Amino acid sequence: MPVAKIRIYPDPVLQTRAAEIEKIDERVVRLAADMAETMYAAPGVGLAAPQIGVSERLIVLDVKTPEGEKELITLINPEIIEAEGRIVEEEGCLSVPEIRENVARAERVLVRGLDLDEQQREIEAAGLLARAFQHEIDHLDGILFIDRISRLKRGIIQRKIRKLIQEAQAAQDDGSRLF
Ligand code: NI
Repeated sequence: MPVAKIRIYPDPVLQTRAAEIEKIDERVVRLAADMAETMYAAPGVGLAAPQIGVSERLIVLDVKTPEGEKELITLINPEIIEAEGRIVEEEGCLSVPEIRENVARAERVLVRGLDLDEQQREIEAAGLLARAFQHEIDHLDGILFIDRISRLKRGIIQRKIRKLIQEAQAAQDDGSRLF
């Protein structure tokens, strides 16, 4: 299975509401497999389809069991149907490299969605998994974690990101002069 290229902010696909998936067919199964592969390779604990340029409502997560074993969750058209508590913790995003910030999230969530066998699933989550669900479902709504921090901090981060992009472009320019 190929590892896909992860889209990086400010790519517009990351700021677009993703479409519902109407039919779970071979294409969707393949997409889910590619996403899992890409998430493990990154490595990350979650990935949403828009992060590989597909504007559809599909997420994969794996925060691993307490014993450190893989525990892949694939959810189609996921929704948070209950949320409670509030907890502030640091998070980052594969699409916003090198930035980590404290973000307030619900402490516990109940998530509903379809699995690849078209079965409806409800998953109760707390801790890291609850945070990961909220982060990934935000991606499906075109929301990034940097949209959930203060405007002041966001301004600082946006300047930092612009600088990183300029540095990357400058590095490429240098490369083009090597014969
Ligand atoms: Ni993310």
